[in-house]
Amino acid sequence: MTESLSRGAGIAVVGAAGKTGAAVVAALEGLADVRRVVHTARRSGDFAVDLETGAGLADALSGCRGVYFIAPNVHPDEPALLRNALSAAAAAGVEHFVYHSVAWPYTPAMPHHVDKARCEDMLRTFGGLRWTILQPCAYAENFASVLDGTATEVDVPYSPDAAFSFVALADVATVAARVLMEGPDIHHGATYELGGPEALTVRELCDRAAGLVSVKQVSVDEWMSRHGRDLTDDGRARLSAMFEFYDRHGFTAGNAVFESLLGRPPR
Ligand SMILES: NC(=O)c1ccc[n+]([C@@H]2O[C@H](COP(=O)([O-])OP(=O)(O)OC[C@H]3O[C@@H](n4cnc5c(N)ncnc54)[C@H](OP(=O)(O)O)[C@@H]3O)[C@@H](O)[C@H]2O)c1
Repeated sequence: MTESLSRGAGIAVVGAAGKTGAAVVAALEGLADVRRVVHTARRSGDFAVDLETGAGLADALSGCRGVYFIAPNVHPDEPALLRNALSAAAAAGVEHFVYHSVAWPYTPAMPHHVDKARCEDMLRTFGGLRWTILQPCAYAENFASVLDGTATEVDVPYSPDAAFSFVALADVATVAARVLMEGPDIHHGATYELGGPEALTVRELCDRAAGLVSVKQVSVDEWMSRHGRDLTDDGRARLSAMFEFYDRHGFTAGNAVFESLLGRPPR
């Protein structure tokens, strides 16, 4: 971390209560005055917003110099949510807007990735705001129960032998904190692809993390009946398209930029 990482206050993390947001808030702890921007306020000091209507955003972003924007997973219209946040950020005079995208955003077979490609374009062309984009690959923490040793079986609705450049969420959050703390003078206009140290299959990830974990491929329908019951039809369709893509092509990304931003190899 450089000296400039210890300066400054007023970073709003939008989506702070989610899996990604919690990691980014933790990485910023002690570095900046962090504002947790959430959907449902749980703690004192939380700013509740509705990204769909824009309600609460003006208040939540007021006085912040930086915003880290994380959209809800497989939302039916992520660009509309981003537009609301960008309008509020511009009106609040935010200096630096950092967008949490994904590796391979323009992948027509995965509609939620294409929505992130549209969001990237919106951010680059919005005008009046300086910005940075992070494009992480799949999180190893998607298999949290394997990493923490509580699972002995994992079902995946795609080939367990498809290759992924899994990233550690804490590493992604460390880069997010660095970009936010160093600010737009250094990072405006940059799009950073963040892939893990090597291409691994789910089988290999589980072997390395825990060993003795049985990895089984199940159909998308079977997976949805167990894990997708709370999803909307649109959410199910988006995830199904992603699983089909993973099955055929895997999901890999480069790590050279990640290593440079971390100052060490990603984990
Ligand atoms: N998983 C991966 O491998 C991966 C890789 C790259 C990128 N990503 C991207 O990372 C992003 C976050 O994923 P995640 O798994 O961390 O998400 P998550 O845990 O589901 O968190 C999303 C948060 O969005 C908030 N939210 C939902 N509806 C909202 C609304 N209308 N207004 C305001 N906030 C709302 C929720 O807030 P409350 O809790 O307060 O309700 C929730 O905490 C997604 O866009 C995903 O595509 C994921």
